[in-house]
Amino acid sequence: MRMAIREDIKDRVQQATDIVRLIGEQVALRPKGKEFAGLCPFHDDKNPSMQVSPAKQIYKCFSCGAGGDAFSFVMNYHKMNFPEAIKHLAERAGIEVEEQAAGFGDQGSGPSERKRISGANAQAMEFFRALLKHPEHGQTARDYIDRRGISPEMVADFQIGYAPDGWDGLVQMIEHKGWERDGYELAGLVSQRDSGGYYDRLRHRLIFPIFDAIGRPIAFGGRKIREEDEPKYLNSPETKLFNKSATLYGLHLAKKPIIDSKTAVIVEGYTDVIACHQGGARNVVATLGTALTSEHVGELRRYAEKVVLIFDPDEAGQKAADRAVELFLTGDMDVAIAVLPDGLDPADLMAQDNGPQRWDEAVGSAQDALAYQFNRLSEQMDGATTLTGRQKLADAYLTRLAQLGLARAGAIRRSLVVQRLAGMLHMGEQAVSELLISKTEAARRAPRNAPRTSPQPSDADIPVGEYGQFMESGESEEYVPVEVASADSRRRLKALELAERQVIGCLIRDNQRFGQALSDGRTFDEAVSAADFVSPENRRLFERLFDRLAAGEAVTLAGLLGDLAVNGEQDLSDILTQTDADVDAATGGRFDQVGQAFALAAQALLDHHREAQYRQHKQTLAAGGDAEGVDPDGLDSAQLLRRMIEHRRDNPSPVRIARVGK
Ligand code: UTP
Ligand code: MN
Repeated sequence: MRMAIREDIKDRVQQATDIVRLIGEQVALRPKGKEFAGLCPFHDDKNPSMQVSPAKQIYKCFSCGAGGDAFSFVMNYHKMNFPEAIKHLAERAGIEVEEQAAGFGDQGSGPSERKRISGANAQAMEFFRALLKHPEHGQTARDYIDRRGISPEMVADFQIGYAPDGWDGLVQMIEHKGWERDGYELAGLVSQRDSGGYYDRLRHRLIFPIFDAIGRPIAFGGRKIREEDEPKYLNSPETKLFNKSATLYGLHLAKKPIIDSKTAVIVEGYTDVIACHQGGARNVVATLGTALTSEHVGELRRYAEKVVLIFDPDEAGQKAADRAVELFLTGDMDVAIAVLPDGLDPADLMAQDNGPQRWDEAVGSAQDALAYQFNRLSEQMDGATTLTGRQKLADAYLTRLAQLGLARAGAIRRSLVVQRLAGMLHMGEQAVSELLISKTEAARRAPRNAPRTSPQPSDADIPVGEYGQFMESGESEEYVPVEVASADSRRRLKALELAERQVIGCLIRDNQRFGQALSDGRTFDEAVSAADFVSPENRRLFERLFDRLAAGEAVTLAGLLGDLAVNGEQDLSDILTQTDADVDAATGGRFDQVGQAFALAAQALLDHHREAQYRQHKQTLAAGGDAEGVDPDGLDSAQLLRRMIEHRRDNPSPVRIARVGK
C-alpha cells in the first residue's frame, strides 16, 4: 500500500535526520541548557526566540509560535509540501527513495549529487578492500598493517583497504566497469588532468574509510606507506556528504558502547581509534585532525553524558584544554581530560601487555576540563603562595573563563565554577562570585555595546497554580462568550487553554496518565472528553490523542508530529510543540513532576466543565425549567454550589495577587 511505504520511509528519514544540524545549516544556533537557541526564521526576530531540542528533535519559536519536527521545518522554510520535504530530507541523509513506490511525483533529473558521491564512495571502498587482499598488489600494504600490529578483525571492522601504486588504478576500474565517473570526481577520488584524462588522488596509501553515524562511507583517509611520501595523511575533500568538522571517525562502531558507558572517549587519530578498539576500549572515536567542535559535541550529546579527551601535554594540548572548557561552559556536556602515562599515545599504550588496563585507569581518572585547565595555569604561574599571588591567579583564570564564554554558561555551570574556584583558590564563594561578575561584565562590554532587550513574556510564563482560576470572587458569574470576552475572562480562557495544552502535553509525555485517577475518584479517560475543550485546535489534537490512547497505542511527540505533517495540519503541529514546551515550563523538565502538573490541569478542565454546567443549571432553573438531568455527574445544585465555594476558598487568585504586586 502506498501509505505503508511512505510511513516506513518517513520513519527512516526521521531516524537519519538530526534537527539541530538541519536547522543549524540555516540558522546560527547556540547551545542553551539542554537545547539550542537561534533567531527564528519565520518572523522578524530580534532576540533568539527559537529553541531546538536535540533530545526531542523539535523546534519551537516562543515568539511567533512556529514549531514542529524536521519535516515541518523543511516544509515551512523551503515552502515545500510533505512529499517534497521527505524527498529533500531523504536525499540529505543519502536514503534511497523509490519515487514511484513512495507515491512521489517524478521530478525528472538523474540521481542527486549526494547519491552520486555515496555511490562512488561505496564502490571505491570495495575496490580498495579488494586490492588489499590482492596476492600481489596488496602485499606491501599487508606487511605495513602487520608492522603496525593491526589485527585482521580490525581490518574487517574498519573496512581498511589499499589504494594501489600508480596513477590510474581506480580510473581504469571505473572505465572497465562502466561506472559513472562523475560521482568519483565529486567525491574527490579522481581528478582531471590539464591535458584531459583522469588520475587517482589516492595512490599507494593505506585506506581508512570514514563512515557516517550509520556506517556509510562518506570519505577516505589515506595514510602514506613510503616514508618519503607527503603528506602523511591525504583525506577526501569536503563534499555534500562529508563535513569534516562534524564527523567523528569510528562513531558507527563506537555508538553503542558510548551509549552503554554514557561516555565518549576522543583521541587524535585513525590509528589511535583502531588500537583502542582492538584493545577492547570500544567507546573511542577521533576527530579528523581538528579540535573538538560544537558540532561534534552536538552529535555526541545524543549518545553520551560525558566526553573524555585524550591528548598530549604539549602546546596543542593546552589549546585543546581551552577549547574543552569552552565547550563545557557553553554546551551541556561534561568534558574531562586525561593524559596517558609515560607520554605514550593510545596506540603505544594499548600495544603494551597491560595496556588496556592502564588505559581504563587513565580514562577513569580523567580530570574535568576546568580543573585541568586551572592546574595547567597555576603551573605556569609561580610565587602564587601569597594572597596577592593567588588573586592574580584568580584574576587571570577568570579573565580566561570569561573569554571562553562564562557569561553564556547556565546557572548550574556558573555556580559549579564558583565552587571550584573557591576551593582551588582558598577564597570565599562570595568573593569569587563578585570577581566573576565583574569579569563577565567586562568581557560582555568589551566586544559590543548592544542594547539588551528582555524577551517577550509568553503564555508559558503563566504559573501552574493559575490553572484553578476561572472565577474570582466578586466577579460576574455570567458566561462570557469568546467574542465579547473582557480582559479578565480572556485571561481565564487563556488559562483554560493552557490547562488544555498541559493535559495534552502530559498525556504525550507520559501515556500512563490517561488512566490516572482524579480527585472525584473517576479516571481521566472516564471524566474528560473532547467536548470539555474550549479551543477548537486543542480539541482536534485531543481527539487524535484520545482515540489512540483508548486503543492502547503508544503515542509519542515525534509520532504525532509526523502524522500531522502527513496530513498537512501545520497549525496543529505548532500547538503540539507548544504543549511540549508548556509541560517543560510546568515541570522544570522533570518527569516525576508530570503527574502533578497533569492532575492540576485535568482538575482545571473538570472545574470549568462543572462551572459551565452550574450556570446552565441556574439558567434552566431561572427559566422555570427542570433542573434534573442537566448534570450527568449526578451532583445536585446544592452540592455543585458547595463545591464551587470550596474551590474558590481553596484557590485564592494568583492573578489578583500578581496584579497587586505590580
Ligand atoms: P597524527 O600525525 O598523530 O597521526 O595525526 P596518527 O593518527 O597518530 O597516525 P599514525 O599512527 O602516525 O599513523 C592525527 C590525525 O590528524 C590528521 C589525521 O586525522 C590523523 O589521524 N592528519 C594528520 C591529517 O589529516 N593529515 C596529516 O598529514 C596528518
Ligand atoms: Mn598520533
